[in-house]
Amino acid sequence: MPNVVFHRNGETFVGEVKENTNLVVRAGIRQFPYPNFLYGCGMGKCGKCASLIIKGGEHLPEPNWKEKKRLGARIDQGYRLACQLWLTHDVELSQEATPLVDVVAPAGSAVGRP
Ligand code: FES
Repeated sequence: MPNVVFHRNGETFVGEVKENTNLVVRAGIRQFPYPNFLYGCGMGKCGKCASLIIKGGEHLPEPNWKEKKRLGARIDQGYRLACQLWLTHDVELSQEATPLVDVVAPAGSAVGRP
């Protein structure tokens, strides 16, 4: 079973999840990493679930078109959209750099702004 190490707001959270687990789906049903995980639409649109993959990225599939569209050059920096990832191996990720949505939101977009 994949082990997940997750960093946010200066804290580290560790949990074990079933294989083929999506962290946004889990958070949505109030399982680890709830309540600490930042997410929104669950569909690859809002960018709120953007996470920096620290370890284990080699086991993740190639970014899909939603991630490429939403994250752009951030993919090369190691960011992925957690809502688009189904975990099969150990992973360490961070949402310390949020709100990433303000960085990647298209010009004129209100996404991620109060
Ligand atoms: S939750 Fe909206 S893009 Fe992942």
